[in-house]
Amino acid sequence: MNRLSATSFCLLFVYSTAQRFGQAELVYEWDTVEFDWPSEAEKAEALRNGTYVPERNLVVGIKVHKDDVYVTIPRWFWTTGHPVTLAKIVTVNNETKLRPYPSWAFQKQADCKSFQFVMSMEIDPNTDRMYVIDTGRVGNILNLCPAKIYIFDLKSDTLLEMHELPDSVVNRTKNFLNDIVLDYINGSVRYAYMSDAYDSRLIIYDFETKSAFYLKDPSMDIERNASVITFNGEEYDYILSAINGIAISPDFNYVYYCAVSSYSLYQIPTSTLRNMSSAKDTGIRRVGTKVSQTAALAYGNNNLYYGALGLNAVYFWDLKQDMMKQKVGMDKVSLQTQTLLVRNDSAMQWPDTFAFDNKGWLWFTSDRLPLFWAKGLPNNTKEGEPFMRIWKVYVNETGIYSKLTNEQGKQTALGQCPVWAVLA
Ligand SMILES: *[C@@H]1O[C@H](CO)[C@@H](O)[C@H](O)[C@H]1NC(C)=O
Ligand SMILES: *[C@@H]1O[C@H](CO)[C@@H](O)[C@H](O)[C@H]1NC(C)=O
Ligand SMILES: *[C@@H]1O[C@H](CO)[C@@H](O)[C@H](O)[C@H]1NC(C)=O
Ligand SMILES: *[C@@H]1O[C@H](CO)[C@@H](O)[C@H](O)[C@H]1NC(C)=O
Ligand SMILES: *[C@@H]1O[C@H](CO)[C@@H](O)[C@H](O)[C@H]1NC(C)=O
Ligand SMILES: *[C@@H]1O[C@H](CO)[C@@H](O)[C@H](O)[C@H]1NC(C)=O
Ligand SMILES: *[C@@H]1O[C@H](CO)[C@@H](O)[C@H](O)[C@H]1NC(C)=O
Ligand SMILES: *[C@@H]1O[C@H](CO)[C@@H](O)[C@H](O)[C@H]1NC(C)=O
Ligand SMILES: *[C@@H]1O[C@H](CO)[C@@H](O)[C@H](O)[C@H]1NC(C)=O
Repeated sequence: MNRLSATSFCLLFVYSTAQRFGQAELVYEWDTVEFDWPSEAEKAEALRNGTYVPERNLVVGIKVHKDDVYVTIPRWFWTTGHPVTLAKIVTVNNETKLRPYPSWAFQKQADCKSFQFVMSMEIDPNTDRMYVIDTGRVGNILNLCPAKIYIFDLKSDTLLEMHELPDSVVNRTKNFLNDIVLDYINGSVRYAYMSDAYDSRLIIYDFETKSAFYLKDPSMDIERNASVITFNGEEYDYILSAINGIAISPDFNYVYYCAVSSYSLYQIPTSTLRNMSSAKDTGIRRVGTKVSQTAALAYGNNNLYYGALGLNAVYFWDLKQDMMKQKVGMDKVSLQTQTLLVRNDSAMQWPDTFAFDNKGWLWFTSDRLPLFWAKGLPNNTKEGEPFMRIWKVYVNETGIYSKLTNEQGKQTALGQCPVWAVLA
């Protein structure tokens, strides 16, 4: 067998046993989450003194690294009752539990060396580092600490760096640091771009110069005529959220963003964000109109994925296909072809945030936020009836950061031949 046919044989083997594009698997579901408490006595005491109020704890953010799944539990609407804001999913005595990450000590409210409110994080698989954003605020009224970016080493579960964001860039009394993406220069993380959903700003942090900037533009605001979200047959007009989902293109040339209360998708060149000290035209462009409103965006090596909140669905945009059809580059292509990835009207309500694993699956949380909003988990669900879910869908691509790893040849690429196939 020559080398070429060995390769095609191997691909055939790999893909015939692989999953089907768009295949969805339910990974976790909860009515209320269970934390991995140090002891039953501490759990009982926290329930008694009100530092733990189970119905206030909703799993929202998600990131996957190797076989580990990390989630966030935002401390919103209430000033108490969320003992943990960042956790890793573990199995203890055959039970799924949320273990505070990296420790209980980091979950301490009102201690500025610990997390106050974590909505999102991002992982650099090349260095096994997790970048965690913290608003510094709890329950939308306690302005406890400055906003921060923490960097953890996932191999040793230790804190490597902590970067405080200045009040002049991320306002201590009204920010909602919502989502984060990483930008690489010469193969390593140089910048973080973050959305501030309350102040309607795009935040830029340069890890080398330790400087922070913000960019404010009308494209980041709520569109008043697009704020009504039809969910579960009801109209909701109170989830007013500005710039929220952000994603970075696989070539690291553009950042895409959208407000929740908007159908518009926008693009900004990273050349603008990397050079904030020089005043120039931002290059912001409205790329198109999405099928529905969206909380989070996620760019793989090919497609841009986004939740369709009013449709209980996840869609994607195959940019390459639209660029070919329109005969233009990424700088001019408009959002035309929107493809349904998955939909489930009962079990995929409010597809909120996304994560890629290194095996070709896109993970997402379905957290039914409008039903939770300000009231907590409903009292009338039967014990054991799931409210929040984590799904994964086979999309045959990894996140853009693992592509870097693949190019550097450090990590097994998708669909790599097993040794015996190469020898065949
Ligand atoms: C409530 O109980 C928890 C668990 O024992 C404890 O860590 C915490 O300090 C207590 N908080 C207050 C305000 O009593
Ligand atoms: C753990 O759960 C699995 C699947 O539900 C079950 O087959 C197994 O017996 C359980 N093991 C223990 C030790 O309870
Ligand atoms: C933060 O926001 C508050 C409320 O709008 C405002 O009064 C204050 O000046 C802002 N702080 C900074 C540093 O911009
Ligand atoms: C990237 O690496 C090249 C080659 O080593 C170097 O010339 C260039 O200055 C680097 N760029 C930055 C922004 O550090
Ligand atoms: C909202 O208004 C803007 C500006 O007039 C328009 O571009 C957009 O299409 C409108 N959106 C909806 C959902 O009607
Ligand atoms: C930053 O912007 C200035 C002004 O537009 C330009 O002269 C300079 O080359 C830019 N620097 C980088 C690193 O792109
Ligand atoms: C929706 O998901 C639920 C839970 O996994 C499943 O039982 C149901 O068959 C799904 N419905 C559709 C239409 O796929
Ligand atoms: C559930 O019951 C508690 C206590 O009565 C109440 O405070 C809370 O608002 C209720 N939650 C919902 C979603 O109705
Ligand atoms: C996965 O992607 C590879 C490379 O783009 C392609 O050749 C293959 O057909 C895809 N497999 C599935 C199951 O979609």
